[in-house]
Amino acid sequence: MDRILVMDFGGQYNQLIARRVRENHVYAEIKGYDEISSGDILSGEYKGIILTGGPNSVYEENAPTMSAGILNCGIPVLGICYGAQLIAHLSGGTVIKAGSSGEYGKTVLHTRGGDLLNGTAEESICWMSHSDRIDTLPEEYTVTAFTGSCPIAAFEDHSRHVYGVQFHPEVTHTEIGAEVIRRFVLEICGCRQDWNMDDFIETTVRKYAEELKGRKVLLALSGGVDSAVTAVLLNRAVGQNLRCVFVDHGLLRLNEAETVEKTFREGFGLNFVRADARSRFLDQLKAVTDPEQKRKIIGSEFIRVFEEEAVRSGYTDVLAQGTIYPDVVESGRKHAETIKSHHNVGGLPEHSLFQEIVEPLRELFKDEVREVGRKLGIPDDIVYRQPFPGPGLAVRIMGEVTEEKLNLLKQADRIFREELEGNLQDTPDQYFAVLTETRAVGVLGDARTYGYALVLRAVTTEDFMTAEWTRLPYELLGRISTRIINEVRGISRIVYDITSKPPGTVEWE
Ligand code: XMP
Repeated sequence: MDRILVMDFGGQYNQLIARRVRENHVYAEIKGYDEISSGDILSGEYKGIILTGGPNSVYEENAPTMSAGILNCGIPVLGICYGAQLIAHLSGGTVIKAGSSGEYGKTVLHTRGGDLLNGTAEESICWMSHSDRIDTLPEEYTVTAFTGSCPIAAFEDHSRHVYGVQFHPEVTHTEIGAEVIRRFVLEICGCRQDWNMDDFIETTVRKYAEELKGRKVLLALSGGVDSAVTAVLLNRAVGQNLRCVFVDHGLLRLNEAETVEKTFREGFGLNFVRADARSRFLDQLKAVTDPEQKRKIIGSEFIRVFEEEAVRSGYTDVLAQGTIYPDVVESGRKHAETIKSHHNVGGLPEHSLFQEIVEPLRELFKDEVREVGRKLGIPDDIVYRQPFPGPGLAVRIMGEVTEEKLNLLKQADRIFREELEGNLQDTPDQYFAVLTETRAVGVLGDARTYGYALVLRAVTTEDFMTAEWTRLPYELLGRISTRIINEVRGISRIVYDITSKPPGTVEWE
């Protein structure tokens, strides 16, 4: 299979670069600039190299760099932003502070032919984000694009197949971006388009059928798309030797546990066990109000239940996990900050109980996982399921989690979802209800009520790193409010959350 190396210098869009390459059905992998040696690069494994953006300045001492020899090795190289500046710097050009000519956001780009930009619009919008700029280049390079304040916005040395772009082709705001990546990968590197999900399924099933022959494999199935796809894929490989444990902590949405069980036990005939641990989780959560504490308790109780199930069943040879590529790339970054401890139920720590861990999806991005899921026949409501926090509704109930509060929230959340799904063509990217600790006075008929205030939350987002609160129609909000107050006794106020992220987070805890 042909491969593109995405050499990571720490930019914020680096995963997007790999995704854009893969959209051309060419496999791309991300490696930190300090994770890969020149020897590995020159070994012939890669048909092309993309150098990413990054936060540093190439002229600083100890700035991230690479061997200049890579520019002469015959493998095509495309530098993006910092990557382009690094090419200039290593080739004997100069990079300087852009000062007031730094560019951030949408910018008009003018192109002047060249191998990489050949055939693209002469004037278009691109996405810029740089405070340094290339000032001079050695004469072997031809400048192929400029903007109002950046005279060298793209350049190339056609004979050595070295290219640089100051703008970000991976960002959708760059109108010619997809074409630039397509040209580099297919025309310049000449990659074959041999990365596709049908082949992925076939080779993965074949590989694990052989590797796991006769061994007992255990998987924690959460109801989310990653573990669901892992389960169905491995089931094809090893059949009943895969046992899927669904830890029912009682913190899923209304009827969700039943749907998961029905889909996988009956629909796919998986070796499926539902471990009913609802009362155990509620006991552990009694009187606990601190959000981090709740997450930790749920995380460790989950592992305890899962391990007990492993020991009981004897399926302890291999642990299967639904780790996907962004998890692998992120865990390689040591500077990842923890804003909340994202205790991903289903993401179990490496454990001595098992001899081995397998992660069949560790090379796939989320959209690729979804495509595999669709091809495997997994229903859309699981394949396109909204993200759902591992600790479930426990982090959508402020304060102590009790059975009564869980029931109120499940009912209200169901009404909210039903109304959005029934009345909007395009539903928001994520929507749910949150039960606060605050109570408010109300009247129902002639009687005074004193119930909980419930928050409705709906957000529009591409990547959940930033999110806008969704402008839902007032009529719809009004109807939802009336329905919840009338149908769910114990809730007396409805409020709509109009906080974006940042400064808020999507979840309340
Ligand atoms: P925040 O609240 O951090 O959420 O803005 C961003 C996205 O992550 C989801 N989320 C989680 N997902 N385990 C998960 O798998 C968790 O513990 C968790 N906490 C939040 C959240 O629903 C949103 O989509």
